[in-house]
Amino acid sequence: MTEPTVLSRTGGPSLPQERNVVTDIPGPESLARLERKKAFVADGVGTMLPVFIEAAGGGILRDVDGNSLIDLGSGIAVTSVGNAADSVVRRVQAQVAAFTHTCFMITPYDGYVDVCAKLAQLTPGDHAKKSALFNSGAEAVENAVKIARVATGRDAVGVFEHAYHGRTNLTMAMTSKNMPYKHGFGPFAGEVYRAPMSYPFRDGLSGEQAAARAIDVLDKQVGADNLACVVIEPILGEGGFVVPAPGFLPALAAWAADKGVVFIADEIQSGFCRTGAWFACDEEGVVPDLVTTAKGIAGGLPLAGVTGRAELMDAVHVGGLGGTYGGNPVACAAALGSIEEMETHDLAARAREIGATMHSRLTALQEQHAVIGDLRGRGAMMAIELCAPGTTDPDPARTAAVSAYCHQQGVVTLTCGTWGNVFRFLPPLSIPDALLDEGFDVVAEAFAATA
Ligand SMILES: Cc1ncc(COP(=O)(O)O)c(C=O)c1O
Repeated sequence: MTEPTVLSRTGGPSLPQERNVVTDIPGPESLARLERKKAFVADGVGTMLPVFIEAAGGGILRDVDGNSLIDLGSGIAVTSVGNAADSVVRRVQAQVAAFTHTCFMITPYDGYVDVCAKLAQLTPGDHAKKSALFNSGAEAVENAVKIARVATGRDAVGVFEHAYHGRTNLTMAMTSKNMPYKHGFGPFAGEVYRAPMSYPFRDGLSGEQAAARAIDVLDKQVGADNLACVVIEPILGEGGFVVPAPGFLPALAAWAADKGVVFIADEIQSGFCRTGAWFACDEEGVVPDLVTTAKGIAGGLPLAGVTGRAELMDAVHVGGLGGTYGGNPVACAAALGSIEEMETHDLAARAREIGATMHSRLTALQEQHAVIGDLRGRGAMMAIELCAPGTTDPDPARTAAVSAYCHQQGVVTLTCGTWGNVFRFLPPLSIPDALLDEGFDVVAEAFAATA
């Protein structure tokens, strides 16, 4: 049990791409390990599907009981290039053998600068851009707010209903949902104000109408002159993959530009080819002042970034941004490997193909099951929202039942949404077509079996 698993031999793209369920899920070996987890890991760190993984790659997660599961979640939008992808493994192995850490704030190295150069090239807009690197998405969001505050000399932060920005004190304040992210953890950071989000399924508003509603709240209840920034996920992540109505983001960005409010796009879940473009903002022609990235950027290693207008990024005094591990050389090597995979294999195009398959499978399912109230998303970031038929009353019980069935059959599905009634599909972009199809066969079976 304590032997390290060598992924280069057993995982990565060479792992057989077949679903194979040979025990109950979780199986006996996973159950034994779960007992150890219970003994040594804090209960607050939950696990959705307690199968212990020993190898992964392509579209498969293989557990310690020998079950091969279809991965429709990518560890929450992280392993977009697939687990142990070739370029990631090659570059990480070379880097780890060369040196593992110097602290970029002490003595720099190329990998950090190379990642920042790539971020300048790939993020929306062709203006001069600079970046700073961090360890987690929450840390990137916190730092984006710090930069906006220094640059504007203002305090207030505008955020949106159903938003998720992380679990640190400031990002908890910015996150919308109480349970499990915030409950009992207050008091939270101040000067955070929440505006209504565009949620077409629930509000029926056009993008322009929804933007006018949000701007009215920010203008009247906060005052544009007090706002350092607005922070928005261009497609909501944890909040339910809500795609705002067309025109919402451009109207909000135009208002922010007019008022000198820094427009921050949190692309931590939606970025790096997930939606079929490098970034979700690209689709609407929105050019944010600052962009936060993490998750898919580094193929599973912890790395995050804030990228933005050079003059904004440079507003902060020397030494004001950083952290011991931010932009760690191994994580940077992984990011350069991931970006290489995305560019070489045109993974944005692959995300659009996967999106087309998922959309047609889910449309067929929606026609058969009235409980599927809404189908939405973009590219390989797609979701269905389950509600009592013909209403917008959330149905989290059915969502849980369908989910449990999928897990039992060896398909890793994720749920999300303010009411826990949304299935989100985020397969690795390395998943073969046959496996994707089989995954959705099981999802269809799950709806039929729980009807
Ligand atoms: C949009 C968004 N922002 C921020 C975060 C926080 O990222 P991390 O968990 O790496 O701190 C997440 C994580 O799910 C996210 O989806």
